[in-house]
Amino acid sequence: MSQPIHISIIYNEPTIETNKGREFAIDAGVDHGPSGVWVSAAKADGKIDLSEVGVIEEKEDIQTALRTLGYETSIFNMSDDLDRFLGYIKAIQPEVIFNMVESLGDNAIHEMHVAGIYELLGIAYTGSGPWTLGTCLNKARTKEIMLHNGIPTAEFMLVEDPSHLTAENFRLSFPIIVKPSAEDASVGIDNKSIVNTFSELKERVEFIISKFQEAALVEEYIEGRELNVAVIGNDPPLVMPISEIDFSGLPADYPKIVTYDAKWMDGTKEFEGTKGICPAPLPADVEHEVKAVALRAYKLMGCRDYARVDIRLSKTMKPYVLEVNPNPDLSNDAGYFRSARTYGMTYADAIGRIVGYAVERRREKKK
Ligand SMILES: Nc1ncnc2c1ncn2[C@@H]1O[C@H](COP(=O)(O)OP(=O)(O)O)[C@@H](O)[C@H]1O
Ligand SMILES: [Mg+2]
Repeated sequence: MSQPIHISIIYNEPTIETNKGREFAIDAGVDHGPSGVWVSAAKADGKIDLSEVGVIEEKEDIQTALRTLGYETSIFNMSDDLDRFLGYIKAIQPEVIFNMVESLGDNAIHEMHVAGIYELLGIAYTGSGPWTLGTCLNKARTKEIMLHNGIPTAEFMLVEDPSHLTAENFRLSFPIIVKPSAEDASVGIDNKSIVNTFSELKERVEFIISKFQEAALVEEYIEGRELNVAVIGNDPPLVMPISEIDFSGLPADYPKIVTYDAKWMDGTKEFEGTKGICPAPLPADVEHEVKAVALRAYKLMGCRDYARVDIRLSKTMKPYVLEVNPNPDLSNDAGYFRSARTYGMTYADAIGRIVGYAVERRREKKK
């Protein structure tokens, strides 16, 4: 019998700021509570920041699935120690890497560099390559590429210096949403992100630039429904059933957007009031168009194996792509799997497909 294939699950353990400096979340009192939820001791006000600890569960969900599928596995925390990483690769010689690294040392741009290291080492890995990871992190650049290729996305401008923003040169229509230009996971999005006047806009742009030390992305706000489209595979990619964020549980005066709290802070009104539903109830022609737009965005941005395209529908049901997420969250309870399950895939089926594409690339390379 042939040797089982060894899959290395590579991830970056989240770190948090403590009074002893930057520490791995797990050493700083983030612990596995009796309820099976990762509980951050740093957040003692009854809210749990799931974004800090999500990857801890995610890698274990993936390992369990890979073992069920008969793969041999190991898990490695890359942190920012390359020597240790290269030593591990030499010792284990994995056939394939299951890539879970989203940043190194809190710096998301290293997501693309890490994929570049796998390329240079010649090891097959899951998910998108460096160009796609780096470009999709840059929302404005992604929007330029989409606009150039006829994919609808909200009108926008990038503001690096707030003093360049004047009421005279401002061409977009209110309401406007202001976001950090190179963050993910709704970081920097809260109930004050939508602005209706120029002075509010200016204030919010200044706030975002000084808080994140990066340009602010100023976008026309698309008032309407929010959809997530999960895509899997390559030749051809498969578009799974569309998932919708139902905002009806939010208090009436809250904006209908997915804020940081809505995504991650269990126990907040935003978290409780925004629920994913799948399949999204849509007229057949709208469903068809949304899927077609998502697939074009997936291909255009060079996504590989799996990705999630976030879309808003205008009041007239026209889809606008918000962003393309290569390598989206793969925890068992993530939105991606709502679509996979509705399609009829189990968690292990979907993980098996994703790793299978990388195993296939390895075989192709060895021929
Ligand atoms: N132009 C827009 N119109 C309406 N809502 C938006 C717009 N841009 C962002 N949002 C809201 O903000 C959320 C986060 O924005 P997104 O661009 O997807 O960034 P992230 O990478 O943080 O998920 C979206 O899920 C959506 O609810
Ligand atoms: Mg998004």
